[in-house]
Amino acid sequence: MTKILMKTKKLPGKNSKKIIDLDKLYISPSYTRDEQYPLTIKKAKGMWITDFDDNTFLDFTAGIAVCATGHCHPKIVSAICKQAKTLIHMSGTDFYYESQGLLAKKLNDLTPGPSRKNVFFANSGTEANEAAIKLAKAHTKRTQFIAFLGSFHGRTVGSLSLSGSKIIHKQDMLPLMPGVTHVPYPYCYRCPFNQNPKTCSIDCASYIENRILGSLIPPDDVAGIFIETIQGEGGYVPAPQKFLVELRRITKKHGILYIDDEIQSGIGRTGKMWATEHFGIVPDIITAAKGIASGLPLGAMIASSDIMDWKPGMHASTFGGNPIACSTALVTLDLVKKTLMKNAEKVGGYIKSELIKMMPNHRLIGDIRGMGLMIGIECVKDKHTKQIATKERNEIIYECVRRGLLALPCGKNTIRFCPPLIVTKKEADMALDVFEGVLSHIEKKKFD
Ligand SMILES: Cc1ncc(COP(=O)(O)O)c(C=O)c1O
Repeated sequence: MTKILMKTKKLPGKNSKKIIDLDKLYISPSYTRDEQYPLTIKKAKGMWITDFDDNTFLDFTAGIAVCATGHCHPKIVSAICKQAKTLIHMSGTDFYYESQGLLAKKLNDLTPGPSRKNVFFANSGTEANEAAIKLAKAHTKRTQFIAFLGSFHGRTVGSLSLSGSKIIHKQDMLPLMPGVTHVPYPYCYRCPFNQNPKTCSIDCASYIENRILGSLIPPDDVAGIFIETIQGEGGYVPAPQKFLVELRRITKKHGILYIDDEIQSGIGRTGKMWATEHFGIVPDIITAAKGIASGLPLGAMIASSDIMDWKPGMHASTFGGNPIACSTALVTLDLVKKTLMKNAEKVGGYIKSELIKMMPNHRLIGDIRGMGLMIGIECVKDKHTKQIATKERNEIIYECVRRGLLALPCGKNTIRFCPPLIVTKKEADMALDVFEGVLSHIEKKKFD
């Protein structure tokens, strides 16, 4: 434990403050930078971040669940340099280059379902979802969508219309894309139907089938249902298998496309390439981004070729599927498939089980959930009433940062651990040590 900051540091340091001051003058204030989380990044390697004052931090954020292969993995750096020396851009919208086709073929092979798939490349998660919205409309000739409360699908108008996690995202933006109906997500720790998850009759699914499609929207008008198999920004909430199976049945019955947003949960993060594979569900469309190219901007919308039947000119992107991003993604996917996915399962399982062991000793932890290296820790003021503990959650995160552990919030009161998939058991132990120390510290302050 030599590398990690064990003593509380005053952040930002002198040099970091300069960076932050410059930023404040010239950068859009719409970014969600937090005064209390003043992290600057000078360089990063593997699991470690160094700020402009030479403080080091153990990264349990992976740049918001992006850097799957860790920071500056030598094979990734080499793929970027090699491609940059040969071809940087020529627009795959109008011309052909090899890396796009190779990557599409690889994604085809790695995606569940027997049929051949086609891939549309974008630059980000939100663009991948915009592409899915447009394809769903084009293919079905229908206009309506169903999405979930608590979901996050991106910040451009179509994806934002599907999202239902934070009011601020929509402030002064309404009306958005018409034709989206939000339904409750199966958030079993706080069941929207007040059921016990062990005995419930999947009311979330029957609500969609009977209330929404039975009395509100004609099923034949619904193009697609967007679902995060594990809700990300909404609080790292996995949907239960029986719900997903029911949802798939309902979509098939009505010819509604099942659109699986794997932007956060995909690319090995949960221990399988896609979270949906844990449940044996084959979606009609999968959207991916974040971890796919180890930090280079790339999004992908993957659909079977009988669904991806739109005509030339109906959708495209100048930069989407850029040669450097595609070459990097090819190496990323190899690393993830060969070793990192298994590591995510193993080390993620270890972290989760250690957190579960901590639970009885810590009043602020209400729930531990997630799969692989997508782990949510929901904070409550009281385990019985489950009153949400947003302030305490934030204090825990800020104190972790001051002690050298980077973590992120999600939902109103959840802490997420989403480290790079290269994290070792030793690094997991360091993080758990810091986290438990911080929990005890905050609890002592609050309850003693
Ligand atoms: C599930 C999910 N979908 C879509 C997005 C949007 O991705 P991007 O920020 O790359 O547009 C995110 C980003 O957090 C996400 O977690």
